[in-house]
Amino acid sequence: MTDTMIIDGKAFAERLRAEVARKVVKIKAEKNITPGLAVVLVGSDPASEVYVRNKAKQTKEAGMNSFECTLSESTTEAELLIKVQELNRDPLVHGILVQLPLPKHINEDTIINAIDPNKDVDGFHVINAGRLATGQDSFVPCTPLGCIMMLKDTLGTRLSGMNAVVIGRSNIVGKPMAALLLKESCTVTIAHSRTKDLPALLKTADIVVAAVGKPNMVKGEWLKQGAVVIDVGINRITLPDGKTKLVGDVDTASCMGIASAITPVPGGVGPMTIACLLENTCKSAGLQT
Ligand code: GUN
Repeated sequence: MTDTMIIDGKAFAERLRAEVARKVVKIKAEKNITPGLAVVLVGSDPASEVYVRNKAKQTKEAGMNSFECTLSESTTEAELLIKVQELNRDPLVHGILVQLPLPKHINEDTIINAIDPNKDVDGFHVINAGRLATGQDSFVPCTPLGCIMMLKDTLGTRLSGMNAVVIGRSNIVGKPMAALLLKESCTVTIAHSRTKDLPALLKTADIVVAAVGKPNMVKGEWLKQGAVVIDVGINRITLPDGKTKLVGDVDTASCMGIASAITPVPGGVGPMTIACLLENTCKSAGLQT
C-alpha cells in the first residue's frame, strides 16, 4: 500500500495567480503598460461560454485588461480572420485566445496560424509548436504547462529519467505534454486509441498523464505501484438518479493506495489552465518593448 497524495491544483493555481498579480504591478510600474488578454468566442457552446466568463473574471482579478469578443455562430472564416488581424495590430492586446472548438465551417488551423505568434498565449501557432518541439523558448499551451508545473512540484529532480506515458495525442495537450516531459529528460511514450495493450504499457510508467476525454477509463490496477497520475479529463456524466457529476479520465477511487500522487477532478488540472493563461499573457506583455 502506498499513501496517495492528492495534488491540490486549486491551491497551486491560487498561488500562481497571486504571483502573476505581483508581476502585473511590476510591469505597470516599469513599462507603463497594463497586460491585456483578448478572448474570442464564436457561437454559443455552453461549456465554452463558462470557460470564457471564468477567463475574463480571473484576468481582471489579476489586474490585467480583459477584452471579450463574442461573434455569432454564422461568422465566416474571412470575418474571423479580420477580427484576429485587428487584435494582432492592437497595442493594448498582448495575448489573443480564440476559444476552440470553432464552428465546423471555419478551419481552426487557418485561424490559429493567423494569430501573431508573439501574442499566441495558447501556444497553438505552428511557430510556437515548432519552437517547443525544438527546445526553444516559446509560448507553451496552458494545460500541459500547468501539468508540468505540478509534476515538477511533486517530483522535483526525480523527474529526470522517469518513464512517462501520455495518453492522448492532441495538439492542445498530448503532443506538447510529451515535448515538456522530454525536456525534463523523461523517457516518453504517447499512447492513443490504437495503442495495443494500454494496461501493460502503464505498468512501466512512473508518470501517467491522461488526456483522452473518456470518463474513468484508466483503472488503478493498470498502474505501477507509486506512479504519479495527472488527470486532464473533464467529463460530465449522468448518475442513475439523473444528477450530473464531473469526472476525469482516471478512475480515481481505484488508484488510492497504488498511485503515490494524483490530481483530483475537479480541483486538479482545471484551475491551473487559466492560471497558466494569465502567466503567458504576463510573459507576452513583459516581452513588449
Ligand atoms: N478549448 C478547450 N481548451 C482550450 C484551450 O486551452 N484554449 C482554447 N483556445 N480553446 C480551448
